[in-house]
Amino acid sequence: MTARHAVCLFVILAAWAVPAAAQAPAQLRTPDVIFVPTPQAVVDAMLKLAKVTKNDVVYDLGSGDGRIPIAAAKSYGARGVGIDIDPQRIREATENLKTAGVGDRVKFLNQDLFTTDISEATVVTLYLLPSLNLKLLPKLNRELKPGTRVVSHAFDMGTAKPQETLNVDGRTVYFWTIPIQQ
Ligand SMILES: C[S@@+](CC[C@H](N)C(=O)[O-])C[C@H]1O[C@@H](n2cnc3c(N)ncnc32)[C@H](O)[C@@H]1O
Repeated sequence: MTARHAVCLFVILAAWAVPAAAQAPAQLRTPDVIFVPTPQAVVDAMLKLAKVTKNDVVYDLGSGDGRIPIAAAKSYGARGVGIDIDPQRIREATENLKTAGVGDRVKFLNQDLFTTDISEATVVTLYLLPSLNLKLLPKLNRELKPGTRVVSHAFDMGTAKPQETLNVDGRTVYFWTIPIQQ
């Protein structure tokens, strides 16, 4: 290989490698809560309670292995967006999306749920912690359109009275619509 060929090869490899590295999920900071998946029966009940349709954009804040956005797209034809701060979870969700056959309707973003823009959501799903739900409440009311549905697995939002609750296999699911009154 001549020096000229070597330079060309280096330029081609650099052009490929730099954008690939820029897109790779990265650890932003320590997650606020560890990954524990919502059982599939509870996922189905959450989406049913929110009356998800193909016109919805379902945001799962802390999306783990991606099961909620993927189910929203598979079962209802909705668009799904998963936000997770942990790059390992984003990698898993992206792998799961490959086999789910709804890749055109779902995306996963390696971002902090407290700083990501959620304004396009029409449904928001949560499985976090009571303290995180409370911390998130002002952002939900500020960024989401009136009438946006919010569903939380297991955890309420302090004194914000849910409009509905559901028991699924011993687990509680909470439902509110924006604006959520405290
Ligand atoms: C209990 S799991 C729920 C996973 C999924 N929503 C479900 O119900 O199966 C919580 C997820 O939130 C993510 N997480 C924790 N803190 C976060 C933050 N500040 N921003 C985005 N994701 C976060 C964790 O990495 C974890 O995957």
